[in-house]
Amino acid sequence: MPPSTPRPLIVPSVLPADFARLGDEVAALCAAGVDRIQWDVMDGVFVPNLTFGPDVIAAARVHSTVGFEAHLMVVAPDDLLSRYADAGCELLIVHAEACPHLHRTLARIRDLGARSGVALNPHTPASVVEHVLAETDLVLAMTVNPGFGGQAYIAAVEPKIAELRRMIDESGFAIELEVDGGITDSTIPGAARAGADVFISGSWMYAHADGKAAAVDLLRQAAA
Ligand code: DX5
Repeated sequence: MPPSTPRPLIVPSVLPADFARLGDEVAALCAAGVDRIQWDVMDGVFVPNLTFGPDVIAAARVHSTVGFEAHLMVVAPDDLLSRYADAGCELLIVHAEACPHLHRTLARIRDLGARSGVALNPHTPASVVEHVLAETDLVLAMTVNPGFGGQAYIAAVEPKIAELRRMIDESGFAIELEVDGGITDSTIPGAARAGADVFISGSWMYAHADGKAAAVDLLRQAAA
């Protein structure tokens, strides 16, 4: 997805999907009109859950007409970057909390030909990305503590979203500001007002009574 794509972007997490039918699930998300698909990669150490290896994502890649992003909730992202890029993830998001050399890690992602993203847990201040905006294509403000879907949105993160919005606008760089966790038609307006323009939704989108396409449309309208 080129960075100039009009916003807001609606990006589902496949965490709630039927893992026995990931190809079909990815095709269904594309048919529902999503802008990208996020893979929540978890190593069982940075977060207590364990999820997708690169081979799983590569197998699903051929079933998608939209780009993939990998949200790397792992303690050693540098060791995995090339494998998830090779699996077809065009955007690699690392956690600032797992990167002692964040500036170099973000540059390495771009050297691999992917776009770079940095995620901040709810407690991590916006200032952590102050000196790496030139190396960053996306900042992800987590609105839940990572590890599992279906958690409640943490509205206390909104002032940080607003601070990140100011930092990005002042930088002049074309950086996407993404939020992830507890995003529904009720919580998305607050995140959008605070300045987010890319929205991850998992459980709410999958559980919507009228199906994924209706859920995507509702989120897009509520975010506008
Ligand atoms: C947390 C995950 C979830 C997931 C979306 O580690 O990153 O935030 O993507 O979950 P929901 O939309 O179900 O809160």
